[in-house]
Amino acid sequence: MRILFTGGSGKAGKHAVRYLVETGHRVLNVDLKPLDMEGVETRHVDLTDPGQVMDTVLNYVGLDELDLPEKPGFDAVVHFAAVPRILVTSDAECYRTNTLATYNVLEAAVRAGVRKVIFASSETTYGICFAQGEMKPAYIPIDEEHPTVPHDSYAMSKVVNEATARSFQARSGADIYGLRINNVIEPHEYATLFPTFVNDPEKRRRNIFAYIDARDLGQMVACCLRTDGLGYEVFNVANDHHSVAATTPELVSRFYEGVPMRGDMGERETFYSNAKAKRLLGFAPKHDWRDLI
Ligand SMILES: NC(=O)c1ccc[n+]([C@@H]2O[C@H](COP(=O)([O-])OP(=O)(O)OC[C@H]3O[C@@H](n4cnc5c(N)ncnc54)[C@H](O)[C@@H]3O)[C@@H](O)[C@H]2O)c1
Repeated sequence: MRILFTGGSGKAGKHAVRYLVETGHRVLNVDLKPLDMEGVETRHVDLTDPGQVMDTVLNYVGLDELDLPEKPGFDAVVHFAAVPRILVTSDAECYRTNTLATYNVLEAAVRAGVRKVIFASSETTYGICFAQGEMKPAYIPIDEEHPTVPHDSYAMSKVVNEATARSFQARSGADIYGLRINNVIEPHEYATLFPTFVNDPEKRRRNIFAYIDARDLGQMVACCLRTDGLGYEVFNVANDHHSVAATTPELVSRFYEGVPMRGDMGERETFYSNAKAKRLLGFAPKHDWRDLI
């Protein structure tokens, strides 16, 4: 596929872009920062400017496309670019950048006739990650039906983006899938980060004790690209197990006493349910931290 990928220079994006390129896709990265990756061109575009976004969606990936009889269109748009959490910019700037960039990308994609758009939403939509004090889930494991009423500007921007995406899907009939991504772990972070929290689950409370391997996130994007006809859907994206050594009963008794548990849970099964992605997309995460450290 010919894919426009925004935010491919970032932490999560560069792994997903590599995954897509290695599986044979042609990718144009659109970002404010450069990306040094063979086979990928980067277009320097501010996605909060609708004119720049429209131009990019309608333009060439590279000069080689001048040799084609006509300019091809994009088969898919994957939108990862964002201010990735609170306290990077001001709250209002985070909200402005994320909502406006997403509106512009969706509008340009739909107007250009792109039939598949995948966008990065977030675990933070469930309101736990950036809550003041301790916020517990309404129930566990958290699935996509769990309420999304966060208090912080970043997560608010992601909830708004989901509403925007749902409306563009209704307007266009295109497939638009949102990924409620959990905390992204790059391969080198199993050595640098995991030892700092694996035996200290309090440090992972705000991530609902979950994680997503960056390469498995790439697989998730590929699953979305090859699964057509779902219309508008959101998916939790996480690996199968908790990111800490403690077991499910230990974590429940320490952190989730009194929180309703819906069904039986495995000894190490994530509280951040990935069942929907497995069921509808065939997602099968491969990189479990216990095999890696
Ligand atoms: N990293 C995580 O743990 C995590 C978890 C959940 C969701 N997410 C979401 O996944 C996506 C990627 O996150 P990340 O960790 O790779 O973030 P990142 O900050 O590393 O990468 C984001 C990229 O977006 C680009 N960008 C920002 N504003 C832009 C603009 N106006 N125009 C063009 N490019 C712009 C940045 O230059 C950067 O390269 C984001 O949407 C983020 O909200 C990340």
